[in-house]
Parts: sequence; C-alpha cells; structure tokens
Amino acid sequence: MEMGISDQPEYPPSAANGDNHHISKKPKLAFITESEIRQEFAHHDPTVSRLNNGSFGSCPASIIAAQKRWQLQFLRQPDDFFLNRLQPQIAHSRSIIKDLINADHVDEVSIVDNATTAAAIVLQYVGWAFAEGRFQKGDAVVMLHCAFQAVKKSIEAYVTRAGGSVIVVHLPFPVNSNEEIIAEFRKGLAKGKANDKKVRLAIIDHITSMPCVVIPARELVKICREEGVEQVFVDAAHAMGSIHVDVKEIDADFYVSNLHKWFFCPPSVAFLYIRKSPISSDVHHPVVSREYGNGLAIESAWIGTRDYSSQLVIPEVVEFVNRFEGGMEGIRRRNHDKVIEMGGMLARSWGTILGSPADMCPSMVMVGLPPRLKVLSDEDAIGLRSHLRDEFGIEVPVHFQFPRDGMLEEMEGLITGFVRISHQVYNCVDDYIRLEKAVNQLVRDGITCKTLNVVFRV
Ligand SMILES: Cc1ncc(COP(=O)(O)O)c(C=O)c1O
Repeated sequence: MEMGISDQPEYPPSAANGDNHHISKKPKLAFITESEIRQEFAHHDPTVSRLNNGSFGSCPASIIAAQKRWQLQFLRQPDDFFLNRLQPQIAHSRSIIKDLINADHVDEVSIVDNATTAAAIVLQYVGWAFAEGRFQKGDAVVMLHCAFQAVKKSIEAYVTRAGGSVIVVHLPFPVNSNEEIIAEFRKGLAKGKANDKKVRLAIIDHITSMPCVVIPARELVKICREEGVEQVFVDAAHAMGSIHVDVKEIDADFYVSNLHKWFFCPPSVAFLYIRKSPISSDVHHPVVSREYGNGLAIESAWIGTRDYSSQLVIPEVVEFVNRFEGGMEGIRRRNHDKVIEMGGMLARSWGTILGSPADMCPSMVMVGLPPRLKVLSDEDAIGLRSHLRDEFGIEVPVHFQFPRDGMLEEMEGLITGFVRISHQVYNCVDDYIRLEKAVNQLVRDGITCKTLNVVFRV
C-alpha cells in the first residue's frame, strides 16, 4: 500500500543536513484510491457542494496532521525549535519550491503568507522609488481593470500617494483569444508612455480572479520588455497547482503564487520569486524584524513569533501530490479537463456559453447563467450566490458582467451573470448536477435576482 504521511520521519534527513534531494525514492506501489481521497477531505461539510476551490483552496487531512506535528514540535521545546530547527526547514521548503518553479537560485525564493503580502512587498518597493525621487511624479503603474482588490488597494496605499499614476487596462470578457487581451494591453502601455512618462511597473495577473481567465503572461512580459517597462510583477495567486509555472519562461521581475489555493497547503503560504538583480536587495518585507537588511527571503522567514507550520509542510505536500497518477501535472490536467466538461454540460443545459475557450481556463471556468435570472448588478450576483448557498447547499462565486459597450437598458436577454466553477480532486459530478438543477429550478419558478433581493432585504 501507499506509504502514509505518518510513516515518514519527523524531520526529513534532507532538512537536517541541507540536502536538497526531496523527491521520494520510495517505490510507488499504488496510486491514491477514491476512498482515500474521500478520507483526505472528510472534514469538508458534507451538505455543501463545494465548487469554489479557487477562493480558499483545500487542505487534505494528512497535511493537516503533518502541520499539527510541526506545531507540536514547537510547543514541546520552543527555544530549541526556533534556534535550531525552524530556519533549516524553511530553507528546505524554499529549495523544493525553487526546483518546482525552475528558479535559478534559492535566494530568489521567499516564502510569505499570501499574495496580498507579496503585493504589499512589491508596491512598497515601488512607492519608495517614487518617494525617493528615482521615479518621477506621473510615471505610471499599469494594471488590469480586474486586478485583485488587495492589489488595487496596495497601489493606492503605496504608489498613488507617492505621486505615481495608474493606467487601467480593460480585460475583454467574454474573451475568445489571447490576441484580444494583448491588443488592449498594448493600448494601456501606449497611454502610460504618453507625454514622455515612463511605465515603472506593469502588474499582470497570470489567472484573473473574477472573471477568471488565464492571461498570456509570458507574451505580455515580453511586450513590456520591448516597450521599456521598468519592472513586471506577475500576480499568479491561483497558478501553482492549476497551471504550469516556470518563472524563467515567464521572465518577470516578481512572481507570486499562493500555495494554499491549488497546491494543498494549509492557509496560508505563498512564494514570492524575485529575479536576481541589483534591485532585489532593496525589496523588503513590510513587517520589519531583526532580519531587516538580510535579503527578503531571510526577512520573510522571521517576522516575529508566530506559527510558521504552514511553511514547513511543503515536503509533505509534495509527497501527497505524488500519490496521484502523474503527480501535480496529472492532477492539473484532470482538473482542467473535468471543469471544462462540467462547464460545457452546464452551458448546454442553461442554453448559455463559457466565458473563454478551454485553453484560457485553468481548473476553473466561467459559465454563463440564463439571462432570465436577470443578474444586473454586483448586488444581484451577491444575492444569487447567497441564495444558492442557503437554499441549495452550493458554494459558487457569481459574477456580474457589464455587457461590452452595453447600456443598462440593453441588458435584457444578454448573458450578464456567470458562475465561476472550480474542480479539485474531491469534486464529483453530483456537485455540478446540483448546480445545474438549482439554476434550472429558479428559472422554471420565474425567480429573478430582483425577487431574491426583495426576499433578501425583508
Ligand atoms: C489574482 C489574485 N490576487 C491576489 C489574491 C489574494 O490572495 P490571498 O487572499 O491569498 O492573499 C487573490 C485571491 O483570490 C487573487 O485571485
């Protein structure tokens, strides 16, 4: 049978002696079974069809157990743990990540809490460049209109108040091809460079959150280089475990991905890759500790007393994904294929469309909702999402999409609502059938978001 996590030594020998060879040499006798997968996620609420892995990810029981073991190691003998064990183990996790993402050097990899923290690190650095006069007032930061809210707020907090301007690139949606995105992006860069200004930073999502689309990040980074954009930050919060990640191929200056969304880590842990360059020593963690000035990776590995266990389970997570046929690559491929199949099934049943072609979807896909539900505002989308949760036991994000060049009065009959469905290893076809039936029932009963809002407000 498959070797369980509990059969592993508490401290992998590689962590103790600095050896980077983390790939298990144990003979693989069998892949994880369906019933073992069910056990791994038995802590999920059985009454809920969980179609939203994208927001918070999921963590299997064996990793939760591994995390608890690390927490107990600390609590047993905190001084010894902090003085002798914590830093080598974080370094070991970093070296595993370095190999997984094809970075050149472990110094390029910092472990931080999440993508929000990484954005603050990058934008704080850009803010200083404005404040210290290396960037001129009015120089621009370029971002997509659907950049994550925390990233927009970081721009506001660090860049706008230091005199930077912001150029917003509109992501076309529904979208049919990378070329549509590239064309909009080029327009944004041209705007940023007008009147002799410079684009100091481009922020490119690798997978946008809402609506969800895989962005041609490699092509956009290349365009940034050609157009003289000073630095590029790829916000790939959803990437690790759901699309191929190769930081050398992408060639950005900064690249962040969460590991708790699609890589089975407990909340919360992310890596921030910073390509080695003269500027990298001037990038700092916003939480300043005694390690200030020792490089971001070391600064990030000590931000005061706290629970670091989510950063320590990376070796166990690699063991976990290797229990699946094809490892992470196999999981990714099957999730993608299944979510496209389920999205297609829903769109056919509802008479709608997918928001983008299959090759622009990760392990999530946007599926158009029937226009008769009348999702006509963000509030409608929130109301419908709550209704699906409360009345049908379905967790799925709902998105309101203003029609392209549309007018409010012209929205009748157009697809203005989309659900973002995810597929992760624990999902089954019944989860999607429940959603299909729920939406069809709402339509059959003549329910619209307006009716829901009335009920909602009472
Ligand atoms: C594109 C993008 N950036 C950043 C984040 C923030 O991630 P976190 O809350 O883990 O910091 C998210 C979360 O969904 C996201 O989708």
